[in-house]
Amino acid sequence: MSLEVIILAAGKGTRMYSDLPKVLHPLAGKPMLVHAIEQAQTLKPSQTHIIVGHEAQKVASVVEPMGAQCVTQNQQLGTGHAVAQAMPMVDNLAVVLVLYGDVPLVPGVLMQQLVDKAMHGDLAVLTVTLDDASGYGRIVRNEKGHIQAIVEHKDANDEQLKINEINTGILAAKASLLNNWLPRIGSNNAQGEIYLTDIVAMAVADGIAITNLQPDYPQQTQGVNDRVQLAELERWYQQQQAMQLLREGVQLADPTRFDLRGELTAGKDTYIDINTIIEGQVSIGDGVHIGPNCHIKDSHIGAGTQVLANSIIDKAQVAKNCTIGPFARLRPGTVMHDNAKVGNFVETKKTTLGKGSKANHFTYLGDTNVGEQVNIGAGTITCNYDGVNKFQTHIGDGAFVGSNSSIVAPVTIGAGATIGAGSTITKDVENNNLAIARGKQRNLATWAKPKKC
Ligand code: UD1
Ligand code: CA
Repeated sequence: MSLEVIILAAGKGTRMYSDLPKVLHPLAGKPMLVHAIEQAQTLKPSQTHIIVGHEAQKVASVVEPMGAQCVTQNQQLGTGHAVAQAMPMVDNLAVVLVLYGDVPLVPGVLMQQLVDKAMHGDLAVLTVTLDDASGYGRIVRNEKGHIQAIVEHKDANDEQLKINEINTGILAAKASLLNNWLPRIGSNNAQGEIYLTDIVAMAVADGIAITNLQPDYPQQTQGVNDRVQLAELERWYQQQQAMQLLREGVQLADPTRFDLRGELTAGKDTYIDINTIIEGQVSIGDGVHIGPNCHIKDSHIGAGTQVLANSIIDKAQVAKNCTIGPFARLRPGTVMHDNAKVGNFVETKKTTLGKGSKANHFTYLGDTNVGEQVNIGAGTITCNYDGVNKFQTHIGDGAFVGSNSSIVAPVTIGAGATIGAGSTITKDVENNNLAIARGKQRNLATWAKPKKC
């Protein structure tokens, strides 16, 4: 029996007060809807239908590259109406899993358990027991404990309002059952909406078994209606990720001051100080030490490397035993070979630093290939841009670039060459030559100091 997923994502998300559709707001750096789709995809559904309405184009541009297809719901007439929009595209022999685009953290394994129950012919609903159930649909059970109906908060009587088991909205059932129930849902209720939840009472009437599952943590089924809930869910998710990393052997100075927006693989005895943000795909070798306030994105940091405080590393490849920072900025295309050093206020872009080479202070290296054991003095700038085109600089092995030099690309500095401090280098320098390109110093013995008038 095949599986098809329907994700409701047509709502405006009024309480976010945002131009961005609610389901595209990021949690841990990724749109909430993308979290839901990725977890659903672990079940290998034959199709994933996203019900879109508000800002449909923006939502489509995110989900279509993931292989999901959008179904437009022109008017948001209710959750039952939303699911019905996709049903003509769904195989009547399939099982359907209904998810919400603003409920990002339902684990794939829990989805699979619901689907397994639905495969057996049940209507499987995901419920959760909350201390404060206000606003949610209540799970109404009979004296035997069997689910009888879901009653929305606005339609509930005083007795029902006391129930604290609520509907998360997530459910699974055979498509054939949904095709039978959905066309029969009315809108005679407090909100005048076509409630998906009405299918529960229909299942009872039809003698279809209703089973329910609960999540391990209520946050896994928490929906997001406003930015307060989004921020709370973000913190919970970050805490879970931090605990997982600690268990795997990564030492975080403070798990409450660490943010992972993507995936981190780390070796043994790595240490991450406070307020560091790891984004995208990052891998870190054994014994790496990352200081406070660093931002590392889509990069590899080799074993034994020290990243000192306040450094930014973006799409860079760093080999073993390097030193970076404090206050360094490695931009995309930076490659550091073993034992290379980039110090404070040094910016690199599309630049390779060979083994043991150093740029320790106040430097810009762009479109530059630096050989091995090169020393780049403080204040060195590669002038790689003439306002129109970018040009390359090559600096050979063992070269020494004196402080405050401007190296105007395209240019090659040979191996073993020395550049006198303060030079503006516009021509190639042969191996082992000394190049000095600066005004000559004059000392004027006859000069008289001005006097105060
Ligand atoms: C719904 C449930 C309620 C449950 C709660 C959990 C119904 C009738 N009620 O209520 O039992 O406790 O979720 O959060 O199902 N949507 C559409 N098209 C529509 C209507 C909604 O795509 O026409 C989408 C929304 O964008 C949202 C989701 O469906 O992602 C839920 O809709 P919402 O209006 O938030 O439902 P609730 O009133 O919260
Ligand atoms: Ca809601």
